Amino acid sequence: MYETWEKLEESIQNCQKCKLCKTRQNIVFGVGNKNAKIMFIGEGPGADEDRQGEPFVGRAGKLMDMAFDMVGIKREEVYIANIVKCRPPANRDPEEDEATACINYLRNQVMLVKPEIIVLLGRIALQNILGKEYGITASRGKWVEKKGIQYMPTWHPAALLRDESKKVEFIKDLMLVKEKE
Ligand code: URA
Repeated sequence: MYETWEKLEESIQNCQKCKLCKTRQNIVFGVGNKNAKIMFIGEGPGADEDRQGEPFVGRAGKLMDMAFDMVGIKREEVYIANIVKCRPPANRDPEEDEATACINYLRNQVMLVKPEIIVLLGRIALQNILGKEYGITASRGKWVEKKGIQYMPTWHPAALLRDESKKVEFIKDLMLVKEKE
């Protein structure tokens, strides 16, 4: 574990721990308030994120920003990161070995941010952080406490693009987060 953001970011910039390093354009490190109370964890960069080096700047990210506006969460006040820092080709799910290779970077980010609340966006974030026994449909909208951190699993914003009915649930889950803050 690195004690400083600079050392952590430098090690990620040079990372070659898995095959995603061969196809990435940019590392997507994470963005936001490094002392945030709330942290959001997604799955991995898509094409827009890979191009810009920033998480959630594509269509799913725009939708998430709209939901943030609706509940009064400010993007610059929270910290946003992903399970894997490099884009899985063709937007496939990160593979087991890729998530395993990358997860300590995220753990290091959590250690440095020290959030009180972590919002897990979608199944991949949920299962890599809380365990494979958690399913997103059953878990979303319900707090899980672990080692002093409150976790809120919810839909991945890309799922809202495919299924309109999930939007209301996503907003409800974010409202629970905002209330607890
Ligand atoms: N989807 C994710 O899970 N993360 C991003 O950064 C963008 C889209």
